Amino acid sequence: MAVFEMRNARKAFGLLEVLKGVSLKVEKGEVVSIIGPSGGGKSTMLRCATLLETMDSGTLAYGENVAAREENGKSVYAGKAALAQVRRQFGLVFQQFDLFPHYTVLKNVCDAPISVQKRDKAEVEAEAMALLDKMGLKGKENAYPYQLSGGQQQRVAIARALAMKPEILFFDEPTSALDPLLTGEVLRVIRSLADEHMTMVIVTHEMPFARAVSDRVVFLDGGVIVEQGSPEQVFENPQQERTREFLKSYRETSGAQA
Ligand SMILES: Nc1ncnc2c1ncn2[C@@H]1O[C@H](COP(=O)(O)OP(=O)(O)OP(=O)(O)O)[C@@H](O)[C@H]1O
Ligand SMILES: [Mg+2]
Repeated sequence: MAVFEMRNARKAFGLLEVLKGVSLKVEKGEVVSIIGPSGGGKSTMLRCATLLETMDSGTLAYGENVAAREENGKSVYAGKAALAQVRRQFGLVFQQFDLFPHYTVLKNVCDAPISVQKRDKAEVEAEAMALLDKMGLKGKENAYPYQLSGGQQQRVAIARALAMKPEILFFDEPTSALDPLLTGEVLRVIRSLADEHMTMVIVTHEMPFARAVSDRVVFLDGGVIVEQGSPEQVFENPQQERTREFLKSYRETSGAQA
């Protein structure tokens, strides 16, 4: 059974149709990158997937837990308890790290597992220390967010998401607020998670990264999935004109080879 499945998601803001029937299924251990031009609907799709926005129509499920089914062409969301269960299954890391400024690094990572999941404090803290170590943040547990670089803050945000033991982790442009040096640190951490087969969906503008870590690349433009396939297929042999144009403009503006 798929870890995550969104089917035929539609979402409009007023007259603006942002998602026009998007379907995405992610299997356990899969790493899926979502690429595409600005305004194409990538964040909206992730926000619908993580219950920060509601779909107008379409279905959404995590494993056997149904978050939304469809009835008479409209999405019908599950009740509070069922959605709370669904929320335990995913983690989310945004572009802005949005750590609690008045909490230490350790408390930022441990707060939700202790206060929301009601887990044992000592056990959660021990796991958090191991996670911080893995994120290259050993010795930073008592620092406050303002004392850390953007790249360090983002790695705390990743540790915080992992501390909840999600089945799947979503990233929305995790490095776009960072300079190139700090970007590298964060991408290395995400790559190590990919090597461990953490199930992930990553919205990114970092094409070489998407190519290196992904099992599958999805090109989203104009609210539809225009094309998807292995990184080799999408980057080396795109089938759709829109994909070719997007990759060409990316190469021209970045001066890089994707
Ligand atoms: N809450 C909202 N209310 C109104 N319009 C919105 C809202 N959220 C997004 N939009 C619009 O939906 C469209 C898609 O936005 P979205 O943020 O999903 O794009 P994106 O692919 O993530 O772009 P980027 O690469 O710039 O992050 C845009 O035209 C945006 O202005
Ligand atoms: Mg976005």
